[in-house]
Amino acid sequence: MTSPLYNRHLLSLTRHTRDEVNYLLELSHAVKAAKRAGRERQLLRGKNIALIFEKTSTRTRCAFEVAAADQGAHTTYLGPTGSQIGAKESIPDTARVLGRMYDAIEYRGFGQERVEALAEYAGVPVFNGLTDEYHPTQMIADIMTIQEHYDGPLTECCLVYLGDGRNNMANSLLLIGAKLGMDIRIAAPRELQPEQQYVELARREAAESGARVTVSDDVAACVKGADFLYTDVWVSMGEPPEEWQRRIDLLTPYRIDAELVAATGNPHVKVMHCLPAYHDLGTEVGRQVAAQHPRFSDGIEISHEVFESARSIVFDEAENRMHSIKAIMVASLSAEATPEGVYSA
Ligand code: CP
Ligand code: NVA
Repeated sequence: MTSPLYNRHLLSLTRHTRDEVNYLLELSHAVKAAKRAGRERQLLRGKNIALIFEKTSTRTRCAFEVAAADQGAHTTYLGPTGSQIGAKESIPDTARVLGRMYDAIEYRGFGQERVEALAEYAGVPVFNGLTDEYHPTQMIADIMTIQEHYDGPLTECCLVYLGDGRNNMANSLLLIGAKLGMDIRIAAPRELQPEQQYVELARREAAESGARVTVSDDVAACVKGADFLYTDVWVSMGEPPEEWQRRIDLLTPYRIDAELVAATGNPHVKVMHCLPAYHDLGTEVGRQVAAQHPRFSDGIEISHEVFESARSIVFDEAENRMHSIKAIMVASLSAEATPEGVYSA
């Protein structure tokens, strides 16, 4: 068997079928198990991978670097400053240069059109490490984590995202939840609900998969019966700090705290966050917001209590970024990438 995703980009997951997503999930679990068993087979030996980061990162960068090293590949990090990208060289030119030297390119940055242009011109697989619109590698890690914490099939699982419904995380969760046939709900105020194109896309996917798609400002109705609650920062990278006041005004009822967790009515509900999270005063932004709004001293989008509770699975998600990004790279760059083929003899 050849990898069904050999030579393929990962730009948004809009072009991946449900079977292809399931294959990536299966491969993610397999590479995790192979590493844990000390039987990881290096399928990327001799490969070179460029990592473009026009925005900052901890998890995504480290996940790509560790996953590549584990698999025998070499990476080059191009950060927000220090290369010619943007100021002196366009994306199409950068793509053609890097495509001559590298076997694959990861891109984190602003508009989705930038990663799409990179893919159009590079001639090698391109992986989206986050744009304003989508965060597809995070999705594979998140669903992988859900599968580790949920016994039933995904088609019976209810995932509720609360907060800024117009950001990359909301768009991506809506899409993957709909594609995989889940009960996917976005709880957000009207002003911050996903743009129509993302909702329509999810509804089209749902028509095929049997997913239930809900977008609503009714927090209580949305969280009732949830198996997983998910949140993200209220102001994303690239947005102006002046947005904070409006987001606080709009999103305070959507904060994940003990009361909201209780409102699910599910004693087993788990809590997720892509991270980084503002859950205490350990960050500059957390301190700035709390100085203006003391009620957020114990967390902004999520309370410290819930973040640190046993139902929080945020660090499992963070670890799974590495395993799933490994699977994503291996699937595109090795024809031999199968769930059985990732083990050494
Ligand atoms: N979740 C995530 O993408 O984290 P980083 O911004 O640290 O990469
Ligand atoms: N919505 C967040 C996600 C961070 C992983 C951002 O874009 O900043």
